[in-house]
Amino acid sequence: MAMTRESWQTRIGFILAAVGSAVGLGNLWRFPWMTSENGGAAFLLVYLGVVLLVGVPGLLAEFVIGRRSRRNPVGALSDLSESSAWSAFGHVFVVTAVVLLSFYSVVGGWTLRYFAGSFTGAYFGAPGAYFDSINYGVEAVGFHLLFLGVTALIVLRGVRRGIERATKLMMPAIVVLLLALAAWGVTLDGASEGLAFYLSPDIAFLQANFLHILPAAAGQALFTLSLGAGTMLTYASYLGEDRSLAADGTAIAVLNTFVGVLAGVVVFPILFALGVGAGGGGPGALFVSLASAFAALPYGQVVGVVFFGVVVLAALSSSISMLEIPVSFLVDEYGLSRRAAVTSLTGVFAVTGAVCALDQGVFGFVAGTLVDLLLTGGLVGFMLFAGWVLGADAVTELQRGSGSFARSLATPWLYAVGVFIPVFLIFTFVSGLADAAGVAVGPLSLLGVTLGPTRILLVVTAVVAVASFLGLRRSRSVL
Ligand code: TRP
Repeated sequence: MAMTRESWQTRIGFILAAVGSAVGLGNLWRFPWMTSENGGAAFLLVYLGVVLLVGVPGLLAEFVIGRRSRRNPVGALSDLSESSAWSAFGHVFVVTAVVLLSFYSVVGGWTLRYFAGSFTGAYFGAPGAYFDSINYGVEAVGFHLLFLGVTALIVLRGVRRGIERATKLMMPAIVVLLLALAAWGVTLDGASEGLAFYLSPDIAFLQANFLHILPAAAGQALFTLSLGAGTMLTYASYLGEDRSLAADGTAIAVLNTFVGVLAGVVVFPILFALGVGAGGGGPGALFVSLASAFAALPYGQVVGVVFFGVVVLAALSSSISMLEIPVSFLVDEYGLSRRAAVTSLTGVFAVTGAVCALDQGVFGFVAGTLVDLLLTGGLVGFMLFAGWVLGADAVTELQRGSGSFARSLATPWLYAVGVFIPVFLIFTFVSGLADAAGVAVGPLSLLGVTLGPTRILLVVTAVVAVASFLGLRRSRSVL
């Protein structure tokens, strides 16, 4: 067990690192992709709801467990519960980290390539065709390895303080650039259709596709906040002093969401103006739309260099937070040196990432469905842990360093993360699983009662939720 643990040097260091982890390709690249595939504004609506009602309380659950335990996710769950079942569950986060970094590094490679391409003008001629020519294949593996290598070096050398500082510049730079691009994009011919797709929800569509949209929107909300993998838990474990977790968490969520929503305002008008439309977006939505913007803009090459440079930085400050999870696990639990941990893990990611870089089908499944499921399941675990294992201790921990408003919300928060939100997330998880497996859920006739899809999922949810509550009651649950 690491007795002397690093802690954040500056008060602002923690926030910057957490924002650095949260703001990344999830906001800029994955959000437009998911939105384009799930009906635009309908998706945005569900997504915003989940960020607010699940994301912020979930962030606090990870913070509370992390600051309380001062350990990596696996150590935290086993230490605080003294149960081998929780410790076994903790290992899921190591798997999640592997899955995350495998595809993230591929997209990181794409951004490096676009950064380089902005200098040479490589993508200026035919932005759509360019993306299709570089996204998967041997060269994509090469750029993935480059991105992974840089990530590994930063985690190894601990130049994170440099990254912390870069985040300070990066955030305003991203916002200013996105605002400028948005202002330009909305003036294009056809832009208003794009805005309508993105901002005016089609409620009938939402109702008809709710069971498909919900898991994707929830997964994206967790992804963009870096939740459900133990990243935020790990960062909070380095907190040496009393900060208001509630205030920090809210600030991080607001800032992060703003960047994502703004990215959509940039991407969709441009996509529609190009005539690509929503469906054609796919994982290339961000790249194709921006590349065309830069190709059309005066000084487009300069803008491209600056923009993709910033995106690379944003991606790195997220990817290091992914690598940090399994590294801190190997160092804390197995006594490996930092160097050995980083090197061996990088070897593993080199291979798993290469698989994603070579096959579009694998990439789509891993970066979409699989991640959504793992993060949703992971966050349910953290929330149940906070509610049923920590119980009153979680309330105390949340109240430490908080103002009176947050203090008064601590107990309602515990009920939310202990009971209500897990039930909702279990429903989401079951729907996502059914959706992924291609199971047509229902209608089913049971004892003369016909159940539609939603009802069936609700019944499964109720069974799973009650079973886990009963299972957890035996530990020192306070609820
Ligand atoms: N949130 C980051 C992004 O939006 C990605 C990320 C970093 C992440 N660490 C994570 C996602 C842990 C889930 C879990 O780009």
